[in-house]
Amino acid sequence: MNASLPLSLSENTVRELVQRFGTPLWVYDAATVRERIEALRAFDTIRFAQKACSNTHILRLMRAQGVKVDAVSHGEILRALAAGYEPGTPAQEIVFTADVLDAATLACVAQHRIPVNAGSIDMLHQLAAVSPGHPVWLRLNPGFGHGHSNKTNTGGEHSKHGIWHTEFEAALEVVRARGLVLAGLHMHIGSGVDYAHLAQVGEAMLGLVRRAHALGLQVPAISAGGGLSIPYQAGAPRVDVQHYFGLWDEVRRQAQQLQGREVHLEIEPGRYLVAESGVLLSEVRAVKDAGANHFVLVDAGFNELMRPAMYGAYHAMSLVAADAQARAARLSVVAGPLCESGDVFTQGEGGTVLARPLPQAQVGDWLVVHDTGAYGASMSSNYNSRPLAAEVLLDGAAPPRLIRRRQTVQELLDLEAV
Ligand code: LLP
Repeated sequence: MNASLPLSLSENTVRELVQRFGTPLWVYDAATVRERIEALRAFDTIRFAQKACSNTHILRLMRAQGVKVDAVSHGEILRALAAGYEPGTPAQEIVFTADVLDAATLACVAQHRIPVNAGSIDMLHQLAAVSPGHPVWLRLNPGFGHGHSNKTNTGGEHSKHGIWHTEFEAALEVVRARGLVLAGLHMHIGSGVDYAHLAQVGEAMLGLVRRAHALGLQVPAISAGGGLSIPYQAGAPRVDVQHYFGLWDEVRRQAQQLQGREVHLEIEPGRYLVAESGVLLSEVRAVKDAGANHFVLVDAGFNELMRPAMYGAYHAMSLVAADAQARAARLSVVAGPLCESGDVFTQGEGGTVLARPLPQAQVGDWLVVHDTGAYGASMSSNYNSRPLAAEVLLDGAAPPRLIRRRQTVQELLDLEAV
């Protein structure tokens, strides 16, 4: 089926964008991002998990709306700083979340006094050794997790993430003994999580606050993590964020009552804020049949959008006919240009090629892949020596703005001119 174009894009706008900026092209819509932010306003802090989309212009847009930021690498910290985020406490505009601290990151968080959300006890020791009194969050693995794929489940014993829940007292003891300052408790059990699982996290969080309280430790803030899903498939349910906030507000209320102090409530979404704001535009370069399968080959591959190849993820698609003529539907397998069989945008988790009805494509048409604002450009690679695609931001009536120019092959070669 030809899904109708998202983001109020018209076929003409798609034509203008590809003619001006070329393909493959990432396009984002600022209004959609702002809308998603507003939906989460009830939380004290909305912290954007920038791994979903780390372009500094998107980060600036977030900061202008009062959204704080999570960084998971030295590079992401430098991006946040470049976008104008102020490091340090008490505002905690940037928090660094990880399970390891490499030397460069350790020096950086110590220099800027960026709070560290620690997923391992070793991180606490390493931090305390160089930065006395450093503010830390503890990221706990509650012993269960969930996600749209096993690869995005970040809880339970198969996950490397977070401090295992039975180690909580040991971690608190390290915080106390090494003179670190407890800034908050954090849990993130996975990405693309269903509602029932998301709700379990609140109960687990309350248990932790009780255990900290029993040891005489105050928990000033709690984070619900990210994980909120979006309806990639037509008709899939949308997360009821008001209800979700209500669950966490109740956790916060009980934590406040227990401790006799205010408790700050954070949420840390990536996908929810940006996924639906983005599309990937590509051009149809070949159509061919292989036995029962009709292949539509476009000029974007999994080096651009990795999600289908990595998780069997579903993305809706629309075809924009270059001649603007109506086309009959045809079951099509949509694939990219890479020299690899897994370079297919319509596939299931095990790599099974799946055909879906699309208007009969012709060379020169444009394919619009929907909901690629999260984990699209940020997961791209240079595989097959393909330069990173350009990114464009649409903002109301303003002219489309190039927010990342297309990389060149020469830039790749320059790295090797040693
Ligand atoms: N907080 C932490 C500590 C995380 O590890 C993540 C995602 C998030 C927040 C944001 O999760 P979100 O709200 O976006 O679900 N590449 C995968 C998703 C991997 C997410 C990793 N961590 C995908 O394309 O679905």
